[in-house]
Amino acid sequence: MPTLVIVGAQWGDEAKGKLVDVLSTEADFVVRFSGGNNAGHTVIVGDDVFKFHLLPAGILYPHVTAVLGAGMVVCPVSLLEEIDRTKAMRPGLGKLVVSSAAHVVFPYHRLLDQLEEEARGKNKIGTTSRGIGPAYTDKVQRTGIRMGEFVDPPVFRERLGEVLAVKNKLLAMFGHPPLDFESLFAEYNAYAERMAPHVASCEGMLQDAVRNGQKVMFEGAQGTFLDLDHGTYPYVTSSHPIAGGACLGTGIGPRDIGSVLGVCKSYATRVGSGPFPTELLDDTGDRIREQGHEYGTTTGRPRRCGWMDLVALKHSCRVNSMSGLVITRIDVLSGFDRIRFATKYEVQGSESTSFPVCTHEWEQVQPVYEEMAGWGGNISGARTWEDLPSEARDYVRRIEEFTETPAAILSIGPDRSETIVLRPDLVWG
Ligand code: IMP
Repeated sequence: MPTLVIVGAQWGDEAKGKLVDVLSTEADFVVRFSGGNNAGHTVIVGDDVFKFHLLPAGILYPHVTAVLGAGMVVCPVSLLEEIDRTKAMRPGLGKLVVSSAAHVVFPYHRLLDQLEEEARGKNKIGTTSRGIGPAYTDKVQRTGIRMGEFVDPPVFRERLGEVLAVKNKLLAMFGHPPLDFESLFAEYNAYAERMAPHVASCEGMLQDAVRNGQKVMFEGAQGTFLDLDHGTYPYVTSSHPIAGGACLGTGIGPRDIGSVLGVCKSYATRVGSGPFPTELLDDTGDRIREQGHEYGTTTGRPRRCGWMDLVALKHSCRVNSMSGLVITRIDVLSGFDRIRFATKYEVQGSESTSFPVCTHEWEQVQPVYEEMAGWGGNISGARTWEDLPSEARDYVRRIEEFTETPAAILSIGPDRSETIVLRPDLVWG
């Protein structure tokens, strides 16, 4: 079955955008299934740098139908700006379809995201301030406005009136002035008019595509450890970036998923607050950040950097029932004499290999490291397994062995060509 889910195997920012771009040459559909414009996917094609927050990276190919699935929360301002910006750089984009079941992000969501973060004081989550949590809260509370309602003016008018009355009471609790209904409706109705040609009930279209053997790629955003249920709660996003989220967020059933590729960096990074046992608060961490240009695509924040955590990665392989790993940014580790990676945790004097659940348990975790010889030089010219330094190959083999998951693809630079496919059989199911 030629369906493929691409997920972030760590805390997001694993360079999924590049991988989706590379594999989209063969795809008929590329489908985002969770999150919103909190995501940031960078794709480099020659001298052009594309930064996507909502558009699936596959949209750069005219033959691809790009879909924003039911599990997403979509900010129309951000999406329309992104469409205009990308079209100006590449006029022949693929078709875009937005599920009528996806939820709309409004200014009150962004305001509440910021006001709630401020109120959390020292316990801030470190959100992207894009209104993602409040938009998903509305969905779960069953007060959200869906795309299908948004693009129908009388329905939108009624729903917005109903919801804004409550939101203005909430804003007042934070001492914020109310939002004016008429001006909000007029502004967003104009966005809705532009969005309308893209909005459709697209679940049947995707189910048919799968039945007809077309190639459907599900493009994950964020990463496994930011999953609402399986991540480091409460320092997580409000959706399901794991492979199971591809089913929830698109209406495709689990038996229709052919392959799952989990993308991980050869080290680890995290943006925002929360547990990160292998974080390096020293010169080595700074060196990884500078060598890897580890600054957020969405917020520009410096990313927290550290060594690979294989205990966590093994958990990720299982949660996602991964067919294979895609190990990225191997070039960034060039020049380190020794490479370290955690293979156990020490918890209150005992060794553990399990992924803790609660924050107070994470606070007790100390990583136990193994180390291996590093490699030097510029490895971005490697095009085959044999071209890689033997130390880099040993590192990849150790990751595979520990996680019991084969490495399917290696990435050794940002360009499409800087990719080594080791197991083409694992790419499409
Ligand atoms: P939110 O998704 O904006 O609510 O933020 C919740 C947490 O997820 C914060 O720690 C963010 O930094 C993190 N986060 C959200 N989206 C991404 C992403 O695309 N990459 C990395 N971290 C993210």
